[in-house]
Amino acid sequence: TVGNSTNIFWQESPIGRLERQKLLNQKGCVVWITGLSGSGKSTLAFSVNKELYSRGKLSYILDGDNLRHGLNKNLCFSAEDRTENIRRVGEVAKLFADAGLICIASLISPYRKDRDACRAMLPDSNFIEARLLVDVFMNMPLELCEARDPKGLYKLARAGKIKGFTGIDDPYEPPLNCEIEIKQKDGVCPTPNAMAGQVVSYLEEEGYLH
Ligand code: PPS
Repeated sequence: TVGNSTNIFWQESPIGRLERQKLLNQKGCVVWITGLSGSGKSTLAFSVNKELYSRGKLSYILDGDNLRHGLNKNLCFSAEDRTENIRRVGEVAKLFADAGLICIASLISPYRKDRDACRAMLPDSNFIEARLLVDVFMNMPLELCEARDPKGLYKLARAGKIKGFTGIDDPYEPPLNCEIEIKQKDGVCPTPNAMAGQVVSYLEEEGYLH
Protein backbone atom coordinates (compact mmCIF):
# COMPACT_ATOMS: atom_id res chain seq x y z
CA THR A 1 0.00 0.00 0.00
CA VAL A 2 1.28 3.46 -0.90
CA GLY A 3 -0.70 6.38 0.51
CA ASN A 4 -4.34 5.58 -0.19
CA SER A 5 -3.64 3.15 -3.03
CA THR A 6 -3.05 -0.58 -3.10
CA ASN A 7 -1.75 -2.83 -5.91
CA ILE A 8 0.44 -0.15 -7.45
CA PHE A 9 3.93 -0.78 -8.82
CA TRP A 10 6.90 1.39 -9.72
CA GLN A 11 7.73 1.32 -13.46
CA GLU A 12 11.36 1.92 -14.40
CA SER A 13 12.20 3.25 -17.88
CA PRO A 14 15.40 2.05 -19.58
CA ILE A 15 16.26 5.69 -20.27
CA GLY A 16 17.17 7.00 -16.85
CA ARG A 17 18.40 10.09 -15.15
CA LEU A 18 22.01 9.54 -16.19
CA GLU A 19 21.11 9.35 -19.88
CA ARG A 20 19.07 12.55 -19.64
CA GLN A 21 21.82 14.35 -17.80
CA LYS A 22 24.31 13.35 -20.48
CA LEU A 23 21.97 14.63 -23.15
CA LEU A 24 21.54 17.98 -21.42
CA ASN A 25 25.10 18.24 -20.13
CA GLN A 26 23.91 19.29 -16.66
CA LYS A 27 22.75 17.66 -13.46
CA GLY A 28 19.15 17.93 -12.40
CA CYS A 29 18.61 19.58 -9.03
CA VAL A 30 16.19 21.76 -7.12
CA VAL A 31 17.04 25.29 -6.11
CA TRP A 32 14.47 26.09 -3.43
CA ILE A 33 14.02 29.82 -2.76
CA THR A 34 12.29 30.65 0.52
CA GLY A 35 11.51 34.03 2.03
CA LEU A 36 8.84 36.56 2.90
CA SER A 37 6.46 38.02 0.36
CA GLY A 38 8.24 40.94 -1.32
CA SER A 39 11.71 39.67 -0.37
CA GLY A 40 12.70 39.27 -4.03
CA LYS A 41 12.15 35.53 -4.59
CA SER A 42 10.65 35.91 -8.06
CA THR A 43 13.26 38.47 -9.12
CA LEU A 44 15.99 36.04 -8.09
CA ALA A 45 14.25 33.13 -9.82
CA PHE A 46 13.94 35.09 -13.10
CA SER A 47 17.54 36.18 -12.89
CA VAL A 48 18.92 32.70 -12.24
CA ASN A 49 16.72 31.33 -15.04
CA LYS A 50 18.08 33.96 -17.45
CA GLU A 51 21.72 33.48 -16.46
CA LEU A 52 21.46 29.69 -16.84
CA TYR A 53 19.73 30.11 -20.20
CA SER A 54 22.55 32.34 -21.42
CA ARG A 55 24.98 29.56 -20.46
CA GLY A 56 22.96 26.99 -22.39
CA LYS A 57 21.57 25.33 -19.26
CA LEU A 58 17.94 24.32 -18.99
CA SER A 59 16.06 25.50 -15.91
CA TYR A 60 12.38 25.88 -15.09
CA ILE A 61 10.69 28.04 -12.47
CA LEU A 62 7.97 26.75 -10.14
CA ASP A 63 6.51 29.91 -8.63
CA GLY A 64 4.16 29.57 -5.66
CA ASP A 65 1.92 32.43 -6.71
CA ASN A 66 1.65 31.08 -10.29
CA LEU A 67 1.01 27.46 -9.27
CA ARG A 68 -1.87 28.64 -7.11
CA HIS A 69 -3.59 29.56 -10.40
CA GLY A 70 -3.60 25.90 -11.51
CA LEU A 71 -2.14 22.86 -9.77
CA ASN A 72 -2.76 24.37 -6.34
CA LYS A 73 -5.88 26.42 -7.02
CA ASN A 74 -7.86 24.45 -4.42
CA LEU A 75 -5.51 25.49 -1.61
CA CYS A 76 -5.72 28.52 0.68
CA PHE A 77 -3.23 29.86 3.23
CA SER A 78 -4.17 27.81 6.30
CA ALA A 79 -1.25 25.92 7.86
CA GLU A 80 -2.56 22.60 6.42
CA ASP A 81 -2.96 24.02 2.93
CA ARG A 82 0.47 25.64 2.95
CA THR A 83 1.91 22.26 3.96
CA GLU A 84 0.06 20.56 1.10
CA ASN A 85 1.17 23.34 -1.26
CA ILE A 86 4.83 22.78 -0.40
CA ARG A 87 4.47 18.99 -0.57
CA ARG A 88 2.98 19.12 -4.06
CA VAL A 89 5.57 21.56 -5.35
CA GLY A 90 8.30 19.42 -3.76
CA GLU A 91 7.00 16.37 -5.63
CA VAL A 92 6.80 18.30 -8.92
CA ALA A 93 10.29 19.74 -8.37
CA LYS A 94 11.56 16.22 -7.78
CA LEU A 95 10.17 15.15 -11.15
CA PHE A 96 11.79 18.12 -12.89
CA ALA A 97 15.14 17.34 -11.26
CA ASP A 98 14.77 13.72 -12.32
CA ALA A 99 14.06 14.94 -15.85
CA GLY A 100 17.50 16.58 -15.70
CA LEU A 101 16.42 20.19 -15.27
CA ILE A 102 17.57 22.74 -12.78
CA CYS A 103 14.25 23.38 -11.11
CA ILE A 104 13.90 26.74 -9.38
CA ALA A 105 11.11 26.58 -6.79
CA SER A 106 10.13 29.97 -5.45
CA LEU A 107 7.66 29.88 -2.58
CA ILE A 108 7.34 31.58 0.78
CA SER A 109 7.43 28.06 2.27
CA PRO A 110 7.26 29.56 5.76
CA TYR A 111 7.36 26.39 7.86
CA ARG A 112 10.67 24.67 8.45
CA LYS A 113 9.14 21.19 8.71
CA ASP A 114 7.62 21.50 5.23
CA ARG A 115 10.92 22.55 3.67
CA ASP A 116 12.70 19.75 5.55
CA ALA A 117 10.14 17.28 4.21
CA CYS A 118 10.95 18.42 0.65
CA ARG A 119 14.64 18.00 1.29
CA ALA A 120 14.01 14.51 2.64
CA MET A 121 11.98 13.66 -0.47
CA LEU A 122 15.03 14.20 -2.68
CA PRO A 123 17.96 11.77 -2.79
CA ASP A 124 20.77 13.36 -0.85
CA SER A 125 23.66 11.73 -2.57
CA ASN A 126 24.49 9.12 -5.11
CA PHE A 127 27.53 8.84 -7.25
CA ILE A 128 26.71 11.77 -9.49
CA GLU A 129 25.02 14.26 -7.21
CA ALA A 130 26.55 15.80 -4.20
CA ARG A 131 23.43 17.53 -3.07
CA LEU A 132 20.18 17.70 -4.86
CA LEU A 133 18.42 20.46 -3.04
CA VAL A 134 19.95 23.86 -2.71
CA ASP A 135 18.15 26.00 -0.16
CA VAL A 136 18.31 29.70 -0.92
CA PHE A 137 17.14 31.96 1.88
CA MET A 138 16.09 35.49 0.94
CA ASN A 139 17.03 37.02 4.26
CA MET A 140 15.34 40.41 3.88
CA PRO A 141 13.93 42.21 6.92
CA LEU A 142 10.17 42.38 7.23
CA GLU A 143 10.35 46.21 7.31
CA LEU A 144 11.96 46.22 3.86
CA CYS A 145 9.45 43.73 2.37
CA GLU A 146 6.63 45.74 3.89
CA ALA A 147 8.03 49.03 2.59
CA ARG A 148 8.28 47.52 -0.92
CA ASP A 149 4.81 45.94 -0.71
CA PRO A 150 4.73 45.31 -4.50
CA LYS A 151 1.18 43.91 -4.43
CA GLY A 152 -0.22 46.06 -1.61
CA LEU A 153 -0.84 42.91 0.46
CA TYR A 154 1.00 44.02 3.61
CA LYS A 155 -1.21 47.11 3.70
CA LEU A 156 -4.31 44.93 3.51
CA ALA A 157 -2.90 42.55 6.14
CA ARG A 158 -2.16 45.45 8.52
CA ALA A 159 -5.70 46.69 7.99
CA GLY A 160 -6.98 43.23 8.94
CA LYS A 161 -8.37 42.66 5.45
CA ILE A 162 -6.14 39.61 4.89
CA LYS A 163 -5.93 37.16 7.78
CA GLY A 164 -2.93 34.89 8.35
CA PHE A 165 -0.45 36.87 6.26
CA THR A 166 3.12 35.60 6.56
CA GLY A 167 5.25 37.92 8.69
CA ILE A 168 2.22 39.81 10.07
CA ASP A 169 -0.07 37.29 11.74
CA ASP A 170 1.36 34.02 10.47
CA PRO A 171 4.91 32.87 11.23
CA TYR A 172 7.96 32.68 8.99
CA GLU A 173 10.60 30.23 10.22
CA PRO A 174 13.99 30.98 8.66
CA PRO A 175 16.19 28.04 7.64
CA LEU A 176 18.77 26.86 10.17
CA ASN A 177 21.04 25.34 7.53
CA CYS A 178 20.81 26.63 4.00
CA GLU A 179 23.34 26.44 1.21
CA ILE A 180 22.93 30.05 0.12
CA GLU A 181 21.82 33.12 2.03
CA ILE A 182 21.05 36.36 0.25
CA LYS A 183 20.95 39.48 2.34
CA GLN A 184 21.56 43.21 2.40
CA LYS A 185 25.07 44.52 2.78
CA ASP A 186 25.44 47.86 4.59
CA GLY A 187 21.72 48.37 4.18
CA VAL A 188 21.87 47.84 0.40
CA CYS A 189 20.17 44.93 -1.40
CA PRO A 190 22.27 43.05 -3.92
CA THR A 191 21.29 43.60 -7.56
CA PRO A 192 19.38 40.80 -9.33
CA ASN A 193 22.53 39.98 -11.29
CA ALA A 194 24.64 39.76 -8.15
CA MET A 195 22.06 37.53 -6.44
CA ALA A 196 21.85 35.25 -9.46
CA GLY A 197 25.66 35.19 -9.60
CA GLN A 198 25.73 33.85 -6.05
CA VAL A 199 23.40 30.98 -6.95
CA VAL A 200 24.94 30.15 -10.33
CA SER A 201 28.49 30.17 -8.88
CA TYR A 202 27.32 27.69 -6.26
CA LEU A 203 25.82 25.43 -8.93
CA GLU A 204 29.01 25.70 -10.95
CA GLU A 205 31.26 24.87 -8.00
CA GLU A 206 29.11 21.92 -6.97
CA GLY A 207 29.26 20.46 -10.46
CA TYR A 208 25.63 20.82 -11.54
CA LEU A 209 26.43 22.68 -14.77
CA HIS A 210 28.31 19.99 -16.64
S1 PPS B 1 3.22 29.43 0.80
O1 PPS B 1 3.16 30.02 2.14
O2 PPS B 1 4.58 28.97 0.47
O3 PPS B 1 2.22 28.38 0.64
O4 PPS B 1 2.87 30.63 -0.19
P1 PPS B 1 3.08 30.70 -1.78
O5 PPS B 1 2.45 29.55 -2.45
O6 PPS B 1 4.51 30.99 -2.09
O7 PPS B 1 2.20 31.96 -2.18
C1 PPS B 1 2.56 33.22 -1.71
C2 PPS B 1 1.87 34.34 -2.50
O8 PPS B 1 0.48 34.40 -2.19
C3 PPS B 1 0.06 35.73 -1.93
N1 PPS B 1 -0.65 35.67 -0.64
C4 PPS B 1 -0.14 35.41 0.59
N2 PPS B 1 1.11 35.21 1.05
C5 PPS B 1 1.27 34.95 2.37
N3 PPS B 1 0.28 34.89 3.27
C6 PPS B 1 -1.00 35.08 2.86
N4 PPS B 1 -2.01 35.00 3.74
C7 PPS B 1 -1.25 35.35 1.47
N5 PPS B 1 -2.38 35.59 0.75
C8 PPS B 1 -1.98 35.78 -0.52
C9 PPS B 1 1.26 36.61 -2.01
O9 PPS B 1 1.12 37.33 -3.23
C10 PPS B 1 2.47 35.67 -2.13
O10 PPS B 1 3.33 36.03 -3.20
P2 PPS B 1 4.87 36.44 -3.05
O11 PPS B 1 5.42 36.19 -4.42
O12 PPS B 1 5.54 35.60 -2.02
O13 PPS B 1 4.85 37.89 -2.72
